[in-house]
Amino acid sequence: MQVRIVEVGPRDGLQNEREIVETQAKIGLINRLSAAGLRYIEATSFVNPKWIPQLADAVEVLNGIEQHPDVTYSALVPNLRGLERVKETRLQEIAVFMSASESHNQKNINKSIAETFPVLAEVVKEAHGMGLRVRGYVSTVFGCPYEGDVPIANSLRVTEALLAMGVYEVSIGDTIGVATPRQVHEKFGALVKAFGSERLAAHFHDTRGTGLANVVAALDEGIRTFDSSIGGLGGCPYAPGAAGNISTEDLVYMLEGMGYRTGVDLPKLLEAGAFIQQELGRDLPSKMLKAHCAAKEA
Ligand code: HMG
Ligand code: MG
Repeated sequence: MQVRIVEVGPRDGLQNEREIVETQAKIGLINRLSAAGLRYIEATSFVNPKWIPQLADAVEVLNGIEQHPDVTYSALVPNLRGLERVKETRLQEIAVFMSASESHNQKNINKSIAETFPVLAEVVKEAHGMGLRVRGYVSTVFGCPYEGDVPIANSLRVTEALLAMGVYEVSIGDTIGVATPRQVHEKFGALVKAFGSERLAAHFHDTRGTGLANVVAALDEGIRTFDSSIGGLGGCPYAPGAAGNISTEDLVYMLEGMGYRTGVDLPKLLEAGAFIQQELGRDLPSKMLKAHCAAKEA
């Protein structure tokens, strides 16, 4: 059985790094990720560079990578201004994003949920006109840093709205990494019942160490697309205390061991993790990467 992995490290991971990472290092990372067999890479974002200075070099990164013909490269786009910048690249796909909770949406994209719908609908329409495919994200489905519990009705409403705009898939985000497997069964149970598992993906952050357990619960609910980040890089700049995404190395190891095929070459993936760890000059959270580096030193 095949599982699709959406690598978000170059975007979700790096957006949280305070020190600006050199454009060439970002390009080197993305090329190593595609060489390791990852077939979907979210490479950067076209948000306001005043908000996320780390990703201000989005055009240079996308135009600098070796575009592998079998890999889909994507980037976050919050509005038409961002989509305008996409025209300077060869991107085939973008992702739009919003939250299930009002206060996170406001902090993250400076708009209420109601104000966000028409903005994203316009982005999706224009993007389709440009021949781009569009993915969607719903954040704070399992909890909001400002509001705590988020009713499932909010997530159902936002997911439905994004699908109605024409996104082909919605990635369901545990932005602050509070979910436990029981909650994953509850939330995904309701979402899969409403929209089917094929159009949903799971996006777990591993703040409290429940990330991989949550993947197993989501697999049980029929989910076959998982977002993860090389080395476990990441967080959300507008979700205080949020840790990185689940690590791609750990995810691949677990899935392959469970009999799922990911298409990823684990030794090459670990080299990509070691590369970005060296560039950042600190240890990254991935357990597999730690084991790999320790074995190399021994
Ligand atoms: P705003 O500042 O409210 O924008 O930002 P505005 O529309 O009022 O415009 C103000 C200025 O920004 C104008 O320039 C615009 O041209 C410029 P000025 O006239 O002042 O010189 N501007 C832009 N410039 C470049 N590119 C753009 C752009 N848009 C406006 N796209 C906006 C609104 C949404 C853009 C802003 O709030 C923003 O950039 N937010 C992004 C925050 C972000 O990137 N968060 C992290 C990603 S989401 C995430 O991590 C969650 C996820 O991983 C899932 C999960 O874990 O749950 C996806
Ligand atoms: Mg995220």
